[in-house]
Amino acid sequence: MSITPQDASLRAREICQAAPIVPVLVVHDAAQARPLAEALVAGGLPALEVTLRTPAALDVIRAMADVPGGIVGAGTLITPDDVKAAKDAGATFGVSPGATDTLLDACEAEGLPLLPGAASASEAMRLLERGYTTQKFFPAEAAGGAKFIGSLASPLPQISFCPTGGVSPSNAMDYLKLANVICAGGSWVAPSKLVEAGAWDEIEALARDAAALKA
Ligand code: 3PG
Repeated sequence: MSITPQDASLRAREICQAAPIVPVLVVHDAAQARPLAEALVAGGLPALEVTLRTPAALDVIRAMADVPGGIVGAGTLITPDDVKAAKDAGATFGVSPGATDTLLDACEAEGLPLLPGAASASEAMRLLERGYTTQKFFPAEAAGGAKFIGSLASPLPQISFCPTGGVSPSNAMDYLKLANVICAGGSWVAPSKLVEAGAWDEIEALARDAAALKA
């Protein structure tokens, strides 16, 4: 069933409102998927972005999809094939670093709510013209950081952003306090070293600290 850009943005907004931080996950071994998702959800971060950057990513999504309380999405969506594969694996939302009409068409046709990336006023406006009012701002720190997003609030108040890329515990509040930021994405809550070591308690503790970040 297809989805309109407006409904996709409403759903993306709900997902972004579930917690202040969306963990960005790069997982190499599907055996780590379930305990990782359980730790993050237990720590208070239900919305999870599994990047399609490892051969295991689709199996990771499959394994995380039925973790109670989790909302599992696929990140790094680039092509229509990515969209179809992510949907088939059980992803309930998608995230992309940028946006092309081909990718937007595919997500709308597959009914996969997308959080599409923008990094400039023109890119944000093009997405807005098409109906996307919830957008990822990527790469957040490199593209101008909190100062840049804050500057878009006055001319483009209709758009809410999820900044991702370079967000960390030390700068997350600079973003989260902005009126046009609803959440932020970051990989720091699930560092590869801890994932590979199966340090689920430590990851849960990082998630708990991230979930406590409030504007
Ligand atoms: C990414 O590209 O992996 C995401 O934007 C996360 O970036 P980060 O590792 O800087 O949090």
